[in-house]
This record gives sequence, C-alpha cells and structure tokens, in this order.
Amino acid sequence: MRIRPYEPRDRADVVDICVRTGDNGQDATGLHSSDDLLPDIYALPYVTHEPELAFVIDNGERAVGYILGAADTRAFAEWFSSGWWPTVAEKHPGTGELERSIVASAANPKRMLIAAVDEYPAHLHIDLLPEAQGQGLGRRLIDTLTGALAERGVPGVHLVVGAANTKAQAFYRRVGFAELASDAGGVVMGRKTA
Ligand SMILES: CC(C)(COP(=O)(O)OP(=O)(O)OC[C@H]1O[C@@H](n2cnc3c(N)ncnc32)[C@H](O)[C@@H]1OP(=O)(O)O)[C@@H](O)C(=O)NCCC(=O)NCCS
Repeated sequence: MRIRPYEPRDRADVVDICVRTGDNGQDATGLHSSDDLLPDIYALPYVTHEPELAFVIDNGERAVGYILGAADTRAFAEWFSSGWWPTVAEKHPGTGELERSIVASAANPKRMLIAAVDEYPAHLHIDLLPEAQGQGLGRRLIDTLTGALAERGVPGVHLVVGAANTKAQAFYRRVGFAELASDAGGVVMGRKTA
C-alpha cells in the first residue's frame, strides 16, 4: 500500500470508496435512491476543484482510500453552489427524510461556513475501505494533506463528522484534531497545519 497524489484514473475508485464508507463509516450502497448522491456531494467536487489536494492509497491495483481537501472553504462553497451543484442537482430530487435533508444541506451555500472558518480555512474528507483501515494509513494521509496545506500557507483545517461516527471521532482526536462545535448534524473538529 502506498500513498500517492490523485490521478484522473482514480475517479471511479474514489466514487466506490465514498459509497462504501458513506453510512457513518459503513457501506451506504443502496441507501439512497441513487448511489451517486454521496460522491456527487462529498467526493467528486473535490477531485474536480482541487485535484492537487487529493491523495489516494494505492494497493497496487486500485485506490482503496483517499483524503480530499479544499484549501479555502469560502471559495469552495461559492464554487460548489454556483458551478458544481447545478450540474448534478437534477439527478437528486431527494426522496425520503434522510435524502431530503442531505439534498437541502448540499443546496445551501452557507452550510460549509462554520463559525471558525477563518481560523481553519481548509476542510477535508477522508475514507478508507475496510482492507486499508487500522494500519496507520489514515494518519499518514492526514499528515500528507496537512503538509500540503502548510506549504500553501493555510493555517488550519477542519472537518465535520457524523455524531454517530464515534470511531472516526476517536481517530481524529488521536491525530491532533479538537472539537470546535457540535449539533445534531455532527461534530466540527479542527487542527492547525503547522
Ligand atoms: C476513520 C479512518 C479514516 C481512520 O483511518 P485508519 O487508517 O483506520 O486509522 P490509523 O490506523 O491511521 O489510526 C491512527 C491513530 O488513530 C487511532 N485510532 C484509529 N481508529 C480508532 C478508534 N476507533 N478508536 C480509538 N483510536 C483509533 C489508532 O489507534 C492510531 O493511533 P496511533 O497512531 O497513536 O497508534 C478509517 O478507519 C476510515 O476510513 N473509516 C471509515 C470511513 C470513515 O468513517 N471516515 C470518516 C468520515 S468523517
């Protein structure tokens, strides 16, 4: 297993990883009316907007994990709302309560603007398939992205983790993140890049 920069050929693997870890860390295949819903919000915009801040774990055959970053959340949110979401929204009418809330959140341009966004301007998503978990690769991906952000002069990075995803919360604490805020939607955690 090795960590390398994202390449366009990884796109389908990134989609697969996103779906198979999308239910609070568990497989979300078939959970929504389209399996494209989660990747269209939480993965593909990132490799489209800032592929240079995407890194994958390569098992020699395919990508089995990734970390995806947006350096400037304010700019990313603006682009997501005006340049990205309109291109995929039609695919996702939002059926059922859970899906409707995901779609409503995606369509809200302010959803990414956490209170501490200026102190932690970047945000990230990290997901590893079960075969890649528990081997120190998640920590290495965090180091890789925070290093790339620090090189660009970005002082801090944050993320939002589901309230029910207690395993991921424990991981983030272990790799230097602290809780910044929390509500029913999840826990906001942040870390300085230096
Ligand atoms: C959460 C996730 C990214 C962690 O990556 P990982 O490669 O499994 O974690 P690592 O092996 O790098 O662990 C790094 C450190 O965190 C600790 N850690 C990891 N999971 C933990 C847990 N559930 N409880 C306590 N500590 C944990 C490890 O013990 C390790 O500590 P050390 O480096 O001091 O020895 C990965 O398991 C994953 O992708 N899970 C499914 C998808 C998901 O939930 N993504 C997050 C969505 S917000």
